[in-house]
Amino acid sequence: MGMWNDRVVPRIVDRALSGKDIRRYRERAVAGLHGTVLEIGFGSGLNVPVYPPEVETVLAVDPSGLGRQLAAGRVAASPVRVEFIGLDGEEIPLDDASVDAALSTFTLCTIPDAARALGEVRRILKPGGRFHFLEHGLSPDADVARWQHRCNGLEQRVAGGCNIDRPMDALVRDAGFELADLHNEYMRGPKMARPWGYLYLGRAVPVPS
Ligand SMILES: C[S@@+](CC[C@H](N)C(=O)[O-])C[C@H]1O[C@@H](n2cnc3c(N)ncnc32)[C@H](O)[C@@H]1O
Repeated sequence: MGMWNDRVVPRIVDRALSGKDIRRYRERAVAGLHGTVLEIGFGSGLNVPVYPPEVETVLAVDPSGLGRQLAAGRVAASPVRVEFIGLDGEEIPLDDASVDAALSTFTLCTIPDAARALGEVRRILKPGGRFHFLEHGLSPDADVARWQHRCNGLEQRVAGGCNIDRPMDALVRDAGFELADLHNEYMRGPKMARPWGYLYLGRAVPVPS
């Protein structure tokens, strides 16, 4: 699956996640970001065109070289400075309390140890900094959740390690965050696509230890 995940999945993801509906969710996810922002799972830079003007620098973490290539045009066209600083959200080469905010969109589904990555985000955020997220994950509807659990193995194999049945709110809370706000809904589309489209859009602040 190396070739598939490295050379094909990033192109599919770039297409699949670049629609108008998703862009509107992205705009909501990035609202309020400012200063220096850590983005885990930067991918092909689909958030770059919607960063608010208050964002100065984005420190991008992602293992995909092809994603970086696909992002090049978006990065070049943006006034925001984007620095690629690492390959793995589970181990981010940044000092403690060094960024103003953090962002993850459709990435906590894919990082193998998402709890560890969230621990890194928590470590790196300055006091008062917020973690903004837009993710898909486990539905509260039993029939949808059943399909999510059933299809998860196949999804992981064909979609670059993506999981569709992670309870994103619990994952974020368990990593030591308090949810400042959370909005859940299904993405627009056919009912049979619901296992892939239950969204978690929110902001979280680290609970002081
Ligand atoms: C579904 S894509 C989403 C890309 C982008 N965030 C977006 O919203 O379009 C998931 C991304 O997570 C990245 N990823 C996978 N494992 C990762 C890890 N350990 N650390 C950081 N990013 C990772 C993949 O390379 C891919 O770019």
